[in-house]
Amino acid sequence: MQTTDITEDMIFECFAAACQHSDSDRTAESFVDVEEYENQIMYPEFARWAEKAGHHDLATLFRRVAGEEKLHAVWLRKLYADMGVPSRGEDTQRAIDALKTIQANCDALIGLNPDGVVEKALSVAVRVEEREALSIYPKFRDQALAEGNHAAAEVYQKVVDSEAMHAEWFKAALASFQRNSQAAAPA
Ligand SMILES: [Fe+2]
Ligand SMILES: [Fe+2]
Repeated sequence: MQTTDITEDMIFECFAAACQHSDSDRTAESFVDVEEYENQIMYPEFARWAEKAGHHDLATLFRRVAGEEKLHAVWLRKLYADMGVPSRGEDTQRAIDALKTIQANCDALIGLNPDGVVEKALSVAVRVEEREALSIYPKFRDQALAEGNHAAAEVYQKVVDSEAMHAEWFKAALASFQRNSQAAAPA
């Protein structure tokens, strides 16, 4: 099979962004939809790539973050007890399709250049976590505050702090990954 390179942007496309709606119940639904997608599909896929590339420590990190994305959804679901299965967001569906598109190629590439794919996955994880911590979820918190929904605002703030921590974990993992690959490179 012919393999084409996988760019960082192609991997970035596999992430979904939660969408703010004027109706805050729909904002909450989009939040849960995206967090559960990260928990069930995206980060487990990154963990699978890392495992396949022989980086068990990174696979563990991706699984740990996946578990926390699940928690984020659980925290908010407690305030929206009757949410049920959130409707699939347009952006989440787009991300699922993007992932399917690169998946077979990605598997082949990991066989050829395992570290390249894993390094890009880490860079994308930093970008995604920063986007959530600095841009998307602060807006959700402010929407809840403006409506006087302090319980929801508190959850979103807790999520902002947690996503900021995920960004730091991935940055540290990327830096150490790059140091190790430089050390291993032939002089
Ligand atoms: Fe999250
Ligand atoms: Fe996160």
